[in-house]
Amino acid sequence: MFIMLNSACAAHYLVFTWIFGVCYGFVLLSSAAGAGNAADILEPGGSWTYDMHTVVLLNEKNESGKDVGFLVAGEVLVQVLWGSSDQQRLLRFEMSPQLYIKSRKAPSPDGFIPHSSNLDSIENKQFFVHWNQGKINKILLPKNEKLSIANLKKGIASLMQFQLLDSEEGNETDSSGVCKVSYTSTGPTIMKKYKTDCTSTDLPYVYNPDVLLGINVESDRTVTYEIDTSGDKIKRINSDEAHVMSLNAKENAGNKIEVHQTLLFKEQSAVNVIEGNTFDEVLERAINQERIAFTQESLVIEKENELNEVKKFSNALKDCRENLKGDLLGKLGPAKSFMKMVTSARISDKEDIAKVLTSGKNKPILHQLYDILGFAQTKDSHEAAMKSLRIERPDHEEFIERYYWALSLSAHPNPEIINDLINRYLKQSDIPRKLKETLLQTISSMAYRLSKFPEITQSSKKIMVKVEEILIHGFEHSKDADDRLIILRALKNLKSDTLIPFLLKTIKTGTLKEGSLAWKTIKTLNPSSWNGDVQKAAWRTFFQLDKVHDSSARTIACDVLLESHLSDDALKQLLLFLLHDEQRYEVKQYLWQRIKMIGETDENFNRRVADIIKSNAQLNNYHILAPKGLSTALVRRFLESPSANGSLVAIQEMDSGIVKRGTVDIVLEKNESHQDICSLGIFSGGLGSFISSEPPSDPDESATAGIELTLLGTQIRPFVFFSDQGELLGHVWSGTASEMTPAFQALALLQDHREYVRLGSGFIAELDVKGAVSFDLSGKISISLWNKNAASVVRKSAGIVVEGFSVIDTDFVRSQAEFIVSIEPKLNLETDIDFYSEAKLCMKLSQPEFIVRHNTFKIERIPGSKHRLRKVTYRKSIVPGRTYALNKKNNEMCNSISGS
Ligand SMILES: *[C@@H]1O[C@H](CO)[C@@H](O)[C@H](O)[C@H]1NC(C)=O
Ligand SMILES: *[C@@H]1O[C@H](CO)[C@@H](O)[C@H](O)[C@H]1NC(C)=O
Ligand SMILES: *[C@@H]1O[C@H](CO)[C@@H](O)[C@H](O)[C@H]1NC(C)=O
Ligand SMILES: *[C@@H]1O[C@H](CO)[C@@H](O)[C@H](O)[C@H]1NC(C)=O
Repeated sequence: MFIMLNSACAAHYLVFTWIFGVCYGFVLLSSAAGAGNAADILEPGGSWTYDMHTVVLLNEKNESGKDVGFLVAGEVLVQVLWGSSDQQRLLRFEMSPQLYIKSRKAPSPDGFIPHSSNLDSIENKQFFVHWNQGKINKILLPKNEKLSIANLKKGIASLMQFQLLDSEEGNETDSSGVCKVSYTSTGPTIMKKYKTDCTSTDLPYVYNPDVLLGINVESDRTVTYEIDTSGDKIKRINSDEAHVMSLNAKENAGNKIEVHQTLLFKEQSAVNVIEGNTFDEVLERAINQERIAFTQESLVIEKENELNEVKKFSNALKDCRENLKGDLLGKLGPAKSFMKMVTSARISDKEDIAKVLTSGKNKPILHQLYDILGFAQTKDSHEAAMKSLRIERPDHEEFIERYYWALSLSAHPNPEIINDLINRYLKQSDIPRKLKETLLQTISSMAYRLSKFPEITQSSKKIMVKVEEILIHGFEHSKDADDRLIILRALKNLKSDTLIPFLLKTIKTGTLKEGSLAWKTIKTLNPSSWNGDVQKAAWRTFFQLDKVHDSSARTIACDVLLESHLSDDALKQLLLFLLHDEQRYEVKQYLWQRIKMIGETDENFNRRVADIIKSNAQLNNYHILAPKGLSTALVRRFLESPSANGSLVAIQEMDSGIVKRGTVDIVLEKNESHQDICSLGIFSGGLGSFISSEPPSDPDESATAGIELTLLGTQIRPFVFFSDQGELLGHVWSGTASEMTPAFQALALLQDHREYVRLGSGFIAELDVKGAVSFDLSGKISISLWNKNAASVVRKSAGIVVEGFSVIDTDFVRSQAEFIVSIEPKLNLETDIDFYSEAKLCMKLSQPEFIVRHNTFKIERIPGSKHRLRKVTYRKSIVPGRTYALNKKNNEMCNSISGS
């Protein structure tokens, strides 16, 4: 009996090890000839029988509630038919697995009883393995056996792929796919193998690159080998693995799969060795002895039948039609049906989809059907949609927009579809303006989303560059002012850093409006791209050093400055601006509001501001720090959880007593990642002269107002309520806008994740998570010229459902764990404006109570048998309603409006 040291554990450690038993940098070996190699354990002629025990359990992530799962147990015979001096072996295996299920009647501790299953009758013969210096490149399986038994065999064979020397890194291909492996001995006879980063590039992998809409899967795989102290056999092999999948945005929603496999030595005998010089020669003899046909494969296990059967589009719609009605949007039902229908659309052919689109029965839900097709994004779904949509038909405009919007919101853009849309844009000259704007925004958004997948940089870069060129060329060659604005807005969705020189040029030479749109685009870029040129331009714009700028351009430039890392001196310059005699006093108020807002969450910033103010006698003056104006900026937490924080950011830039630019952003944050869920913007222009006695900022501007919406970072074209004074007066007199009216409705996928995990013991788990939102934005506005007041209500409603499941499906058993989380949140923004004498504005931001449901289902069944198990847990918690305290000034004005 010899003790081998590995290189990292020098000889003198041996003594310590002997005494303290801490550093096990060695393993016991059987023969003097061996240099720590595993081949010595597999002596030719050896034959061992093991008890095999494989437990597979599925549960919720935190293992609350009872799990479901099964046990496969039986005997495994391992024989060494041949060995060479260069450590090659021919191994022969037999195994006899049986299925056990959990039962209350079963004996403890593990609670399993045998159950008949297909495993009892499917063909299962002996198999061979070519073992070469601890690695297995070939397994020879009997021809035409079912995948489920072949996979179990590969799982057993994979256990025999091992080394007995410590090693830091290497990679092995086995039943789990291609994994990084390391070996560490943890006792004189114990070797642990860690498998990490297992990849299965041959199986589908779909994910959402936005962190907060993503899924986290953590895997742990260890195999422990215990060698008999005599060094001539393996006493025990334990393979333990766990895979935990959870939602990044709600970490307690998730599933866990655990597998524990054991081979325990039972008895030893001997087998006749086959003579021969090469492996191939010996293998041929061995096969001749068995008299059956074999096929040669790798150890990687293969996917059986498509795990979940998906119905065709036309068929699936039968169950979903009712739920897809427009008046239900904003609720949960449509979100649930939407997920099902997207899955169906993805596997359906053009003809089947086209049939649904043309059927009279589906007329009332056509809008929603186009949402579904936009998210399906296959070649077939696109062709079916494009075939039925006619750009020259005004009654198709709404459908076309819904389809484009869905395309632009999908996390998985199809490059073929982007190219098709680009061609349509370039070839068609008569696209109505609204559609043209939506088309360009869609192309930009899709190009940007495609660029987020690091694995396809080449082709996505090409598309990005192409879109950028087309838009800039279009801008520079268009004589039409509105066309140019459309292009500038589309660039906001492209979010490309390389646009900066073009945008800065537009700020310098463009119109007031173009300048403020260019700033809006810069603001959407990653702040790390705001280089020195952007900083300089922001100073010039904010202080109007080069020319007069639109007040919105100035306030956005102000945001850019404040969100850059300002030096103390620069911050002081900004604060001194509060002392300026500034005609547009709202810009001053805006600056002050934003400084206070940042200070609310950034203590360091707050302290710097306080220090500057204290050290300056003029600034340190109450009156200056309460500048005139109604602009507001504030941030309020609406969610604080271990997984993510949520904030509402409400900013209003006022002009002449009217909201010129207002936004309410819903932002989720996790660590350093932000996800803009939704941003609602209100804009108005040219109304100053209409309501206020103050001089307008842009006397040529015609009266306009509308809302702007950004969903998941994608800007939707603005919805204009009126675009001149006549139209406005029409609304005022007829009261058309004073009923609650939907402005925007949509169905969208949030999470969209599917992957397959190869479990080492011979099963494939499918992990699938889909989340969907059904969204409704409605509003009303009433203006009374008589009483000189106006009131508006904007209501956002959303039904959000996330459904995730882990399933293992074989010919003999099917186990599944599933969670469904759902919420139905609403947000109301009410604004009252009184412009009778001095303008007063009162805003109320409120969120009614809503319920969070988190249900889990665990289901098990044995094909061909009556056995069915279903364990369900329903949980519900209530998020109380609340009204957000805005600021003191707002409160005072609300009191004053309601009091007068
Ligand atoms: C597991 O998670 C669920 C859902 O969040 C929770 O209700 C339950 O209390 C948790 N159980 C444990 C043991 O932490
Ligand atoms: C596996 O390891 C070998 C040798 O260490 C290396 O050449 C090869 O690139 C690795 N393969 C993978 C997929 O990492
Ligand atoms: C949420 O905010 C708190 C307080 O600012 C912070 O400590 C925590 O790390 C944040 N949580 C996440 C998930 O980002
Ligand atoms: C980010 O979150 C993960 C867990 O979600 C945590 O382990 C990590 O430390 C966090 N990083 C930072 C910078 O807070």
